[in-house]
Amino acid sequence: MEKGISTLQLERFDISHERGFLPKEDPAYRFESLELAELRYLEFLGNNIPEMLSNHTLRKTLRNLEPLPIEVLERLPYREKVMAARIYAFLTSAYVHQLEEEKVNSIPRGLAIPFNYLSKALGRKYPILSYDLYALNNWKRKDKSSRIEVENLETIQNFVRLEDEPWFILIHVEIEAEAGPAIASIVTLQDAVAKKDFELLKYALDNMHDSLAEMIETLRRMPEHNNPNLYAFTFRPYIQMFQNVKYEGVNEYSYGPTFRGETGAQSSVIPSLDAALGIKHQKTDLTDYVTDMRNYMPKKHREFIEVVEANEKSKPIREFLMKEGGVGAIRRYNDVLDKLVEFRQKHLEFAVLYIFSKVKDTLGTGGTPFMKWLAQLRDETLAHKINV
Ligand code: HEM
Repeated sequence: MEKGISTLQLERFDISHERGFLPKEDPAYRFESLELAELRYLEFLGNNIPEMLSNHTLRKTLRNLEPLPIEVLERLPYREKVMAARIYAFLTSAYVHQLEEEKVNSIPRGLAIPFNYLSKALGRKYPILSYDLYALNNWKRKDKSSRIEVENLETIQNFVRLEDEPWFILIHVEIEAEAGPAIASIVTLQDAVAKKDFELLKYALDNMHDSLAEMIETLRRMPEHNNPNLYAFTFRPYIQMFQNVKYEGVNEYSYGPTFRGETGAQSSVIPSLDAALGIKHQKTDLTDYVTDMRNYMPKKHREFIEVVEANEKSKPIREFLMKEGGVGAIRRYNDVLDKLVEFRQKHLEFAVLYIFSKVKDTLGTGGTPFMKWLAQLRDETLAHKINV
């Protein structure tokens, strides 16, 4: 494990100051590298998921789908592999969770084989729709010269034709972009602790604070165009987990594995900030959800969090501040924690508004006992403030 990361190296983890964990290039929405009827058909299927779900033709269509030859998938450039994975991920979840139909316990080979191949080729651990394909790689800018903000964005892939689903997804995307400066500040922060440079330390903490303030403003906008009833009953069902679902034609998953569903808990932003700020979380109900969510993040983002954690372990920021930090630096550290608590508090209120008050589920789409877990994460953040 490396001991330090420099700003220049952020790129190695597929991270940038401008976009945080969003891809450096905008996600692909057309297969442009190869002109093949099979790829056009896949694109067509992806674009017609809402219609196929509402007229109940999706399962039949996908049961008849032939797996795309691996040689074709192999030849796709990286961005188009991600695009193909995104389409297969949406198709697979649509197939498994089709509303108003019987449950199924297996995924047809036409989906299972190519999706499993692509997941592996992209360094993903599990072939299921996760945050990377639902949010990080599912947006398009209307005006390419303008910023990544919700008004300038549209989604590429959906389960329903309602404005609420794109709004739900794109609020996440804008928050990811706004987190960019906070994530880049992690490098400065760790550098400052190593050098005992208080001015640099305050500068990094102020940047984190301002970045979090913007993220919270955007989070607050969630109810503007995302109706809790529509969220709970029309598209949330499609991002649920897979429980004992077999992957036909894929040996390692023929037993019917269980995978977590899509959730913001698979975003790398908050875990990176927790790691950098020395905020430790306890297991809930004997399960370490924080750590397990990492298995659903892109490989390089997972590795970034590990490096940040290792750095923090060797030079812990809280110990440093408690021993050597002046009141000014400690106050700034506490201000950042207050912002993280505010984010987590507002977010918990949304979990109540959108899920707890609507459905009987005691688990989130990510499979956590969310009411208890989200409150615990908020309280543990608060508990790390340093007395001055
Ligand atoms: C309607 C809005 C939202 C609802 C109902 C919601 C719901 C949830 C739920 C239930 C969990 C627990 C994990 C699980 O799924 O089992 C969770 C976790 C999480 N969500 Fe959301 N979420 C929403 C919006 C967002 C947004 C916009 C973000 C921003 C990226 C986000 C980031 C997170 C994070 C970071 C966690 C992990 C908990 C933490 O670190 O405090 N969520 N969410």
